[in-house]
Amino acid sequence: MDSVFLNKAAAAVLLSIATAWICGAVGSTVVPITAPAKPAFSVPGTENVPIAPYMAHADADHGEELAHQICSSCHALVSAASDGVGPNLAGVAGRPRASITGYAYSSALAGQKAHVWSDQALSDWLTSPARFAPGTRMSLVGISSPAQRADIIAYLHTLAE
Ligand code: HEC
Repeated sequence: MDSVFLNKAAAAVLLSIATAWICGAVGSTVVPITAPAKPAFSVPGTENVPIAPYMAHADADHGEELAHQICSSCHALVSAASDGVGPNLAGVAGRPRASITGYAYSSALAGQKAHVWSDQALSDWLTSPARFAPGTRMSLVGISSPAQRADIIAYLHTLAE
């Protein structure tokens, strides 16, 4: 193999790399790699619904029934009871998120300490915990009925700390 051949081979490799790089640079200028500002579609039943109209005629007694069916396997619902798989929910409505000392929250929820559990936040959380706080350890798929979420939230308001 003579050196002219080696030079040609090296030049060919460099030229290919340069061409590939230029194509990449031109391509990403023509078609920028950015996510769309709005998702192209949304899955029905997973959008955040304004909960206030449902809170106006929520039924806390029905909420209590639902909470005992759905939440109490993981959450204590009585003040001063020790935390279960999830933190004690007494007084949770209106309280800062992830604020029970001694409970080991996931970083997904611990990162939201600056916000409180408003009715709307509780509703969005209960619609889909995984979407509200990606990485959360609350393994509940979600409650799709806004009326049921309102009933549960109304019940949570009755649980004083
Ligand atoms: C399978 C167990 C499980 C069930 C069922 C469950 N939770 Fe949870 N919940 C958790 C866990 C675990 C956490 C802590 C999540 C984290 O740290 O990411 C949590 C956290 C929460 C929080 C945040 C509390 C705080 O101090 O910030 C609320 C509010 C909540 N759950 C409400 C509910 C309600 C209401 C129900 C019933 C509709 C429910 N959960 C059902 C396990 C559960």
